[in-house]
Amino acid sequence: MRDLTLPSFRSSLPGTVLVLLASGFTASAQNPLAIPPTVSGTEIDLELATGTVPFLPGAATQTMGVNGPLLGPTIILQQDQQVTLNVTNHLGEPTTIHWHGMHVPPEADGGPHIVIDPDATWSPSFTVLEQASTHWYHPHLHMHTNAHVIKGIAGLIIVRDPVEAALTLPRTYGVDDLPLVLQTKQFDAGNQVVVGGALDTHVMVNGTLDPYVDVPAQMVRLRLLNGATERVFNLGFTGNQPFYQIGSDGGLLSAPVTLTRLRLAPGERAELLVDLGALQGQSIELVSFGSELPAAIYGAAQPGMGMGQTIPNYTSNPLNGNDFTFLRLDVGAPTADPITTVPATLVTLNPWPEASADATRSFTFTPVNMGPTAIQGPFLINGAPYDMMTINFDVPLDNIEVWQLTNQSPIAHPFHVHDVQFYILDINGAAPPPNMQGRKDVVLVPAGMGTVRFITRFEDFASEEVPYMYHCHMLTHEDAGMMGQFRVIDPSQGVEEGIAGNGLVVAPNPAVNQLRITLDPALGLGTLTVTDLAGRAVLVHKEVAGPLRLDVGTLPSGGYLLTFRSVKGTATSRFVVGRE
Ligand code: C2O
Ligand code: CU
Ligand code: CU
Repeated sequence: MRDLTLPSFRSSLPGTVLVLLASGFTASAQNPLAIPPTVSGTEIDLELATGTVPFLPGAATQTMGVNGPLLGPTIILQQDQQVTLNVTNHLGEPTTIHWHGMHVPPEADGGPHIVIDPDATWSPSFTVLEQASTHWYHPHLHMHTNAHVIKGIAGLIIVRDPVEAALTLPRTYGVDDLPLVLQTKQFDAGNQVVVGGALDTHVMVNGTLDPYVDVPAQMVRLRLLNGATERVFNLGFTGNQPFYQIGSDGGLLSAPVTLTRLRLAPGERAELLVDLGALQGQSIELVSFGSELPAAIYGAAQPGMGMGQTIPNYTSNPLNGNDFTFLRLDVGAPTADPITTVPATLVTLNPWPEASADATRSFTFTPVNMGPTAIQGPFLINGAPYDMMTINFDVPLDNIEVWQLTNQSPIAHPFHVHDVQFYILDINGAAPPPNMQGRKDVVLVPAGMGTVRFITRFEDFASEEVPYMYHCHMLTHEDAGMMGQFRVIDPSQGVEEGIAGNGLVVAPNPAVNQLRITLDPALGLGTLTVTDLAGRAVLVHKEVAGPLRLDVGTLPSGGYLLTFRSVKGTATSRFVVGRE
């Protein structure tokens, strides 16, 4: 293990780490905002290690960080570049690193299956396929994600591309383009991070308590990440200064959206422009207006539907249902070449039309416990907790799918899926507001039978071996099993394990009544399963061997996935049942 200590952090005033606007008293922000260093290039080294940070007077806090004791550098990537990330784990315990929001092969995605052992280095390589966007990276070890994130491992990823570069936008990192990792933490009496407590009263940006930052009097871009465990933020500025949202999770919006409030759930990112041109010599504060959050969202006065739903210690946390400050912006002289305008339009978005969907899949969230403790979790997706050994469903490569989320629990959950960016079709039946019509990978699903539908396409990457995750991004919920996993399967590939070539051939395709199946004899006896595009097994034949004739006359017209599994291996193929 390697220990690093951060000398540049100043501790905050004893007793006042929380700035409560609602109660009428404000403490002055007094620590300069830490700006994470950047790393870029085709080979990037990330070293995970434990460290200490003197957050509070008294004992230093034990932390985890990347290339330093707390958080990690901002990774700057160019679209279409090749990158290798060498992640070395000096934490003294296993972990993983996931590139949240990025479209990468499952082997490079860093989910719970891609464990980095102590003192090992994991070196995924991939081509950056993203549009200009703000993503982030964090650990994803099953049941330990929250512990590793809240102790300090998280960092931003900025992707640049030519379309964004051609727009008149601020992009001088740390000057008029600020990375802001928003978090809250709970410390115990000995100043150590409490994992999973509800008293996260310490508000920080980039790991800095009570921060201020000097900004120029011009258009300033903020890249926001909600990196908190559970808390939803309702962001805005003092004086209700308007701002423009220009980007959501997966990149720029089609046009800037003028707002005075932005709700940001755990895992979500947003890019904002704020015009400070008229504010030289003044300060404004970035605030979470928690007093305005409706019930049944974590952070509101009432976290659940109905008064009966309680979380231990929730009501004694002064952040809940109150307004609090993240950051004071002290506006100084403009830079030599300031951006002073907001572009009228940004990028062209091409959401898939709903009619193009190959399949619809349903996900229902339920609490394990009924009654007033339902809100404390755990929560299930489709009735089951996460099981590392169970693939919840397979998605055929290139499928366009509508995912329909229904929240039958008393609290809103931010749902996240790996591999893809999606477009929200509707929330509780209504079209999403303009700032949620861009590319997304997290969506807050309202409580009490709330529904969200989104559409996405599973392109480019398929694997029989490594699944992608979907889960609630409240890290306590995820760790307690509110997660599932799916594989993307390339049906044309005839996936094999230890068998050369395509192990499975079907004809005719489309089929009407009968499908002829040729199987690699080396596969021996096994089980043949036909799955519809919603992932339901519609025909199962056990202890069979090829060649086979399969009666498909009872199946509705449409696409199917055929899987043959034996102890010798697995082969799959897609086929279509077509009838007039
Ligand atoms: Cu941000 Cu599966 O995670
Ligand atoms: Cu992710
Ligand atoms: Cu949840």
